[in-house]
Formats: sequence, structure tokens, C-alpha cells
Amino acid sequence: MESALNEAFEPSSTIAPRFEEPSDSKRIKDDEDGKAAQKMAKKSELPKSSTAAAVHSTPTAFQGSDAGDEVPTQHSNTFEYISHPDIEVDDDRTDHGSDTDSALGSMPASSTVSLRSSVYEYIEENGRTYHAFNAGKYIGPNDEIEQERLDLQHHLFVMTMDNKLHLAPIENPQHVLDIATGTGIWAIEFAQLYPSSTVLGTDLSPIQPSFIPPNCQFRIDDAEEEWIYNQSFDYIHGRALVSCFRDPPSVIKSIFANLNPGGYFEFQDPIMPLRSIDGSLAGTSLDLFQKSCMEAAEKLGRPWTNGKNYGRWMREAGFVDVVEKSYYWATNGWVRGRQKKLQALWLNENLKEGLPAWGLSTLSRGLGWSRERIEVLIAAAREDLSNPNIHAYAECYVAYGRKPHNEGSSS
Ligand SMILES: C[S@@+](CC[C@H](N)C(=O)[O-])C[C@H]1O[C@@H](n2cnc3c(N)ncnc32)[C@H](O)[C@@H]1O
Repeated sequence: MESALNEAFEPSSTIAPRFEEPSDSKRIKDDEDGKAAQKMAKKSELPKSSTAAAVHSTPTAFQGSDAGDEVPTQHSNTFEYISHPDIEVDDDRTDHGSDTDSALGSMPASSTVSLRSSVYEYIEENGRTYHAFNAGKYIGPNDEIEQERLDLQHHLFVMTMDNKLHLAPIENPQHVLDIATGTGIWAIEFAQLYPSSTVLGTDLSPIQPSFIPPNCQFRIDDAEEEWIYNQSFDYIHGRALVSCFRDPPSVIKSIFANLNPGGYFEFQDPIMPLRSIDGSLAGTSLDLFQKSCMEAAEKLGRPWTNGKNYGRWMREAGFVDVVEKSYYWATNGWVRGRQKKLQALWLNENLKEGLPAWGLSTLSRGLGWSRERIEVLIAAAREDLSNPNIHAYAECYVAYGRKPHNEGSSS
């Protein structure tokens, strides 16, 4: 893979995502500068009722997920969110039928199955383990398979963003918070990058390592509960949280309240559902899987469709200079361009482990499906993920904004 990375990249398609912009935000274009990604992978609120209604004001966004080139979602007031992937089919592929691309070499090996030691208390369900603190809130497991997936996903985000851990224009941040930090990999790397900062990572699961930089700490904490910290923060970061919160605007309010004036907040998240550039996702098992999960997530009261609202919710909470930006990840090597292909292969690996991570809990808790039924659908959806004739992609969305220097003002 390394030698493939060193070769020149094919130019990518230049169709930029299109958005109608609100006056107080600006968007920046994915410039695809062709630099190779340098990083390589290293390796109880249990559902009381499966019919709980979503409390979000968000309109149900799952309409025509596979409408082809764009899926506009009408928001209630400020602006219409329209996205368009800057990706196109690679007509020159010679290895149709394979989920790898010969030009890129082989993918990282699949995760191996082994459970973490019993040092921590976990909830077990359908062969996976889940957080015990405030159990049942979050649908993702916390076992080693998931931890490896989160670390792999971290590298996908970082390589996509030109090896950057953040896009917000922060300078010399002193106090930094990473909410729902997962394995803490982002917080650790951020602490190394900014040694004069103090970085706190919080999560429901105690899955962070012990050997960490001296300026990094972890704490078990629920971002949906009242925030009690000794100091305010200069920068707050949250990534891959789209399935986490029952009421994201209230979490954003807590974030705003706990930032210093002039401090920044940044979300990095996938926009669900997966779509395809030409309708080829429609009717597939992968599409059935995601539609079923999204129906279940709605019933569980934590819809997966919140990502596209972050910018608007940030502005409503008082953030200024809100910037939104999207990247597009193809599901396998069907896509043109070496950098896009590389990201696609990482996404493919990520989603192969992501399907059981999200599906087992969501479909059993939300729709009452049996483990066998879920696993049959996952197996078929995994095949679709690697089918180069299905031109599906995920949108990776970033929104960041600043708390005004004088509250109530726009400066
Ligand atoms: C998909 S992982 C993302 C982890 C990390 N942000 C990253 O990008 O690698 C989502 C994380 O959110 C955590 N989480 C979910 N709900 C939470 C809450 N209410 N408070 C704190 N953490 C939460 C989960 O335990 C899980 O580790």
C-alpha cells in the first residue's frame, strides 16, 4: 500500500458539494489537493419501550435515500441542505468483482475477535459488550473489535482531512474537551500536538488506555447530563456522535455554555443514510439494512439523521462564524482517483465491522429482531459493501463555530 501511496494521484472530479448558504456561515470547498494520506492504521437506559418517539424537531430525513445524485432535505427555517458528492465511477477498473483495488495493494487485516479482560463491568448482549454506566443509551459496543474499528475510523477521518485533527482555526488552546472520546485516540494525538494544552476526554465507556501523555486525562461522563467542570474550555471537539444523543441541541447548548468567549466547537460526523451517485444502492441488502436501522433508531429516540442539522443548531445556540464542509467516501474501489480509492477501502473496512456494531443492538432493541435475522442481513449487506457495481458513498460532514467574544453579539 505504501508504494501505491507514493505514486501520483489521478485528479478527482471537481463537482463540489452545493449548499445554499445562510448569511452567517461560509463554506469551504474540498480542494482535494492530491496529498497522500500519511497515516496508516495500527493496527441503565436500556430501551424501556421500543416505540418511544423521537423528541427531535428534525423532520424525518429518510426519504429516497438512493435518489441518485442528490438528496435535498428541507429544514424548517434557515436553509436548504443539498449535497453533491465530488466522486465518480472509475471506468478503468480492471478488477471488477473484487473488493480491493490492485493499484492500492491489500487492505489492513480484518479485526480479530477477542473480548477485553474482565477488569471492567460490561453489559453483554448478542455476543458483544456494551457500556454499563447509564446502560442502554448508546447502541455501539465497547469490546476490542469495536475499539479497533474506532481507531481505524480515526485514521480515515484524519487522512481525509489532510492529516489534520481539527479544521477550526484554533490558536494555542489551553483547555480542550473531547466529548464521547471513545478509545481516546483523538484526544491523545491532540495532546501530543499541543503539549501546552490540557486535554480531557469523556465517555460512557472506560475504554481509554492508561499510558497517555501527561497533558491528557480521561473521565467517565455522560454528555447528556449536567456539565460540571472546573474550568471552561477553549476548544470542544465531538466526532462520530450521530447516533448518540436524544436531544443534540441541548448538548450543543451545554457545549456553548462551557466554552470560553472566543472558543471553538467542532463536530465531525457522517451524514446518514448512505446514498449512491446513480441509484445503484436502491433495493440492495445494504440499503435494507440501513433503512431498517434508521427505522429502529427513530423508535429508540436517537435518530441517525441529525448530522446535517449541526450547523443550524450551532447558529441557533449562539455560535458565530459557523463553517460547514463535506467530504465524500465511496464504499469500495468503484470510485475514480487514488486518494478517493484509498479512503474508500478504509471506509469499506470500517463499515464491515460497523454493520454488526450498529445493527445487532439497534435492530434487536428497536425492532425486536432475532440475532439470526440480523446476522443474515448483515452478511448480505457486507457483500453489497464490496460490490463495485453498487456506487454507494457516505458523506462526512464537519461543522465548527466560535462562541462570540461578547455574548449576545456576533463578534
Ligand atoms: C462512534 S464512537 C466515537 C468515538 C470518538 N469520538 C471517535 O471519533 O473515535 C461514539 C462514542 O460516544 C460515546 N457516547 C455515546 N453517548 C454518550 C454520552 N451520552 N456521553 C458520553 N459519551 C457518549 C460512546 O460510548 C462511544 O464511545
